[in-house]
Amino acid sequence: MQYLILSDMHANSEALAAVLRRVRRKRFDVTLVLGDLVGYGAGPNQVVESIRDLPGTVYRIRGNHDKVVAGLEDGSNFNHAALAAARWTTEHMTAPNLRFVRELPQGPLVVPEGFTICHGSPLDEDTYVFSMYEAWEIFENYPAELVFFGHTHVPSLFVHRGREIRVALLRGESGTITLEPGHRYLVNPGSIGQPRDRDPRAAYMTYDSERKIIKWHRVNYAIERAQRRIVKAGLPKLLADRLALGT
Ligand SMILES: [Fe+2]
Repeated sequence: MQYLILSDMHANSEALAAVLRRVRRKRFDVTLVLGDLVGYGAGPNQVVESIRDLPGTVYRIRGNHDKVVAGLEDGSNFNHAALAAARWTTEHMTAPNLRFVRELPQGPLVVPEGFTICHGSPLDEDTYVFSMYEAWEIFENYPAELVFFGHTHVPSLFVHRGREIRVALLRGESGTITLEPGHRYLVNPGSIGQPRDRDPRAAYMTYDSERKIIKWHRVNYAIERAQRRIVKAGLPKLLADRLALGT
């Protein structure tokens, strides 16, 4: 099976459109969406509609920003800019799109081929998996061989073998990971709409489950346009600045 893996779109419709343009001619059996469709950017309705209308089989889960925008959580743990953006987003989304976000399922979700998708961690949807300590906790307590997760906005990989855990940052325009038998993997495709690894390009992944090959990809998009829309919408300017920095 061929999978397309999308995460942390954050209402950046310019970035999502660039990714979907890039993969348009490729055939995917399944698309996996790891949450945070909205929050931060100025195109929440366009992003929700694009994610809703993806062709083929699609598995989607919610992220922490989706929960706050949908009113499922109050955002008391959000910083000022994130909370201001969530409130703006709730006010500017159509009722059907808001309902779509509210009804996104909670992760973790085990897909039919047996691997897992989640937003933060398979143990807790809101936990950030940045270090090998968080990775170790997952490998100890969650028995999957392969987990795709989002939330940190950093394309990255944790590999568990025997008593060892390795971590890798997935840098550059593209690259390949071949899954080895006897190893276990936590894999983050990075963020489409708000990258935080100091590379402002939109990040996504593909996975060929027969050949056991994961590929990561970066795509240029109209960053200035996304920034202008954020400023024009009255969203915090900081959010526009961060798009160009990749932070
Ligand atoms: Fe996010």
